[in-house]
Amino acid sequence: MSHADDNAGTRRDFLYYATAGAGVVATGAAVWPLVNQMNPSADVQALSSIFVDISGVAVGTQLTVNFLGKPVFIRRRTAEEIEAARAVPLDDLIDQSSENPNKPNTDASDENRALDETGEWLVMTGVCTHLGCVPLGNGSGDFGGWFCPCHGSHYDTSGRIRRGPAPENLYIPVVSFVDETTIQLG
Ligand code: FES
Repeated sequence: MSHADDNAGTRRDFLYYATAGAGVVATGAAVWPLVNQMNPSADVQALSSIFVDISGVAVGTQLTVNFLGKPVFIRRRTAEEIEAARAVPLDDLIDQSSENPNKPNTDASDENRALDETGEWLVMTGVCTHLGCVPLGNGSGDFGGWFCPCHGSHYDTSGRIRRGPAPENLYIPVVSFVDETTIQLG
């Protein structure tokens, strides 16, 4: 390609982009207010996904983080808690759904609620499915999991509703492992 052709190409490209740019500006001014209303605000977008370092969570404890305005419980369960959760017959459960969007349309067995295969990690939105109180953790309630004192809902070590007015298991958020010590919410 000669030097002259090169210049011509550059010039054509420049004219093309200048025209396209003008078009975008002209329509953009009219379209923006609508688009702006339909999209979540920038601060909500920035929070729609967060990373959590779980390396400091000891077995038998729970880390609570705030995600999209709600508490999320990240529990590192003991072997006893996992065993208790996995020994429960499905027929004993009030809510038969895993309530886990990461495993849609699965039953409420503990294997479908835990984040990893061993069952060590259980991540749930910490909002009672009755009227939205934040349940107490650390082995609370008659089933050794979580207890909502507002109206007496008992959740087991898998966060499943076992007694009281709450109709559904504690919900599981969209969650995944990024690496061994980091999880991503959202
Ligand atoms: S809000 Fe939890 S039992 Fe009513």
